[in-house]
Amino acid sequence: MELYHHFLLLHPSASTRISLLPLAICLLLFITSKASAFNRTTIRFDEGYSPLFSDFNIDRSPDDKTVRLLLNRISGSGIISSDYYNYGFFSARIKLPTDYTAGIVVAFYTSNIDTWEKNHDELDFEFLGNVNGQPWRFQTNMYGGGSTSRGREERYRFWFDPSKEFHQYSIFWSPKNIIFYVDDVPIREIVHHRAMGGDYPSKPMSLYATIWDASSWATNGGKEKVDYKYEPFASEFKDLVLEGCRVDPLEQISSTNCTDRIARLIAQEYATITPEGRKAMKWFHERYVYYSYCYDNLRYNVPLPECVIVPSERERFRDTGRLREKMRFGGSNKRHRRGRNSRRRSRHSAASGKDAAAL
Ligand SMILES: *[C@@H]1O[C@H](CO)[C@@H](O)[C@H](O)[C@H]1NC(C)=O
Ligand SMILES: *[C@@H]1O[C@H](CO)[C@@H](O)[C@H](O)[C@H]1NC(C)=O
Repeated sequence: MELYHHFLLLHPSASTRISLLPLAICLLLFITSKASAFNRTTIRFDEGYSPLFSDFNIDRSPDDKTVRLLLNRISGSGIISSDYYNYGFFSARIKLPTDYTAGIVVAFYTSNIDTWEKNHDELDFEFLGNVNGQPWRFQTNMYGGGSTSRGREERYRFWFDPSKEFHQYSIFWSPKNIIFYVDDVPIREIVHHRAMGGDYPSKPMSLYATIWDASSWATNGGKEKVDYKYEPFASEFKDLVLEGCRVDPLEQISSTNCTDRIARLIAQEYATITPEGRKAMKWFHERYVYYSYCYDNLRYNVPLPECVIVPSERERFRDTGRLREKMRFGGSNKRHRRGRNSRRRSRHSAASGKDAAAL
């Protein structure tokens, strides 16, 4: 019901409100029909997480179920799961900073860059702040086996204001498929296609949540910077979920037999998108995606193997991946790497950001 409530708080213009109505009702039915949502076991911070950097900017509630990550002029902050997961379901309810948030990135992602610096895997939600009065946006991305020259970004608008209330963000990752969920609406699925080769994430990953200053690219291609007049910026995380085959990073990762645990994971409801879920995903795609690498022919003249090309979408994206003919693709595919000399520092930003500067 809370979701229903959120939906009614949408603020589209009057005309879009009318044209969206039938689809909106579809989505509404989809969301409310699963009011009980997926079967999730939430944990306290100390049951699954550790501080990652800048402890002084990590604010844990007395019951240890909610954590606030702060960004101020001294530093951002971040947390990391204490274990690696060999496939899993990672979820949290997140409330993003309010008001002026240009230049800020809040990231919720899985990675294993600490262990496999050269061939790491990564799955990202990255939330991109904005100037006062302009909405947050977000993107998802994937890397596998160090495929850092092949960004797979999709960028989206929200159907709600993510700074007003908590919303649930989830990453499902199995050997068969990857699904990104927002409030249990599947917004993106990547099916493991054989031709992806090593680009599909397959090594154990940790879950990260961070807030950091990405003034150089996050908002309008870096034109709008973080304004520390408004510090501190706080992002809240609660209802933390870490499911999957836990692997202790200090042990030989390969020594854990995850066969049964992965089978249990794949049997869960969130592992498979239902027909209603497909409808909701279509609804989302038609309204809220504004960039997709699958339609960016300037970047990939042959779409990457997992891309499912829908002719009507290709038409809308005009072969540039962008919804409107706004700007040409001017970015370099080179990634903005974190300093290799600082292991700590290298961990606190999801890797995908810079590619997106040009989007
Ligand atoms: C929900 O998940 C828990 C833990 O994974 C499991 O013990 C329980 O049986 C599940 N409940 C349902 C209804 O699937
Ligand atoms: C892992 O466990 C499964 C199921 O319990 C078993 O069939 C398989 O042989 C095990 N694999 C290894 C390498 O031990």
